[in-house]
Amino acid sequence: MQASFAYNGNRMRVTISGGTGFVGGRLLAQLLPAGASVHLLTRQLRPGLPSGVVPHLWDPLREAAPPDSLAGSEALVHLMGEPVAQRWSPEIKRRIRESRVVSTRNLVSAIAMAEPRPQTLICASAVGYYGSRGDEWLDEESGPGGDFLAEVCQEWEAEALRAADLGVRVLRLRFGIVLGAEGGALARMLPLFRIGLGGRLGDGSQWMSWIHAGDLVGMILFALRYPHIQGVWNAVAPNPVTNAEFTGTLARILKRPAVLPAPEFGLKLLFGEGAEPLLASHRVRPLAAEAAGFRFQYGGLHAALRHLLKS
Ligand SMILES: NC(=O)c1ccc[n+]([C@@H]2O[C@H](COP(=O)([O-])OP(=O)(O)OC[C@H]3O[C@@H](n4cnc5c(N)ncnc54)[C@H](OP(=O)(O)O)[C@@H]3O)[C@@H](O)[C@H]2O)c1
Repeated sequence: MQASFAYNGNRMRVTISGGTGFVGGRLLAQLLPAGASVHLLTRQLRPGLPSGVVPHLWDPLREAAPPDSLAGSEALVHLMGEPVAQRWSPEIKRRIRESRVVSTRNLVSAIAMAEPRPQTLICASAVGYYGSRGDEWLDEESGPGGDFLAEVCQEWEAEALRAADLGVRVLRLRFGIVLGAEGGALARMLPLFRIGLGGRLGDGSQWMSWIHAGDLVGMILFALRYPHIQGVWNAVAPNPVTNAEFTGTLARILKRPAVLPAPEFGLKLLFGEGAEPLLASHRVRPLAAEAAGFRFQYGGLHAALRHLLKS
């Protein structure tokens, strides 16, 4: 059922950062027809935004978000961040960290100054928070890891939590690997798999906690609607799979072989330290979302991939 964000002629106003990206684009496409008024925080004004979206230019590393981007907004959804899936250099690592930690700090500074204040902040984070943990099951109560991305996620979430001290409801969503045909990991894998050159990464034993992009957007809409939801939610489907299982399922659906594994040393050569997230193991449960009554449309990988690949 499509949630409505307009009641008796009053439209809920939502401000989104990262709305030009993969997840944000999907969120806009659901919020607008549901009647919400959408304001966008972006580093670059560009043509081609969906009609009705009001853009606000923001340099997230240098200044608080502009006051008019927040004025009258009931909720903020903070999704911006330098892409993680690339070769890491010291400069890229700095950007990965600052685009999340400093931008969140500067967003919360704007919330502190806003009058009235938005009531809700939904901030992206990632299952990278837990670090690579082999076969261990992880839930929202599990402790953090100690690698680079785990530290970034902890700092990112700590900045978001400062909004709670201002009386704002804060939900930190630890995203798993978001699956959508138009972006993210799946779109990067598809060209190789389609020509039969896909294969597992490393020995393929690492757990992948994934979520269909539609379910992730569903979770954000659910959290916008229900004002009691706060804290941390793992934004992952209930059935994580190993990388070998993921690879096999994708290849079977595409009716292609997946016999060319990408060895660990090759990935490290190509991505440097950026190979870490490809080889990391996250076996994560969405306990908080399930306890709150959120219903996944795509709980199993096969159905999710079949839907996304329309096969
Ligand atoms: N996709 C996934 O599988 C996944 C998994 C775990 C966590 N996440 C997190 O979820 C959030 C949204 O993911 P996504 O895949 O939708 O992201 P995305 O498409 O890669 O990027 C979202 C937006 O971030 C802004 N951005 C890019 N580089 C930036 C930089 N250096 N500084 C500040 N802003 C920058 C851009 O917006 P403007 O150009 O308009 O400013 C971009 O459209 C990200 O923070 C990501 O880390 C995603």
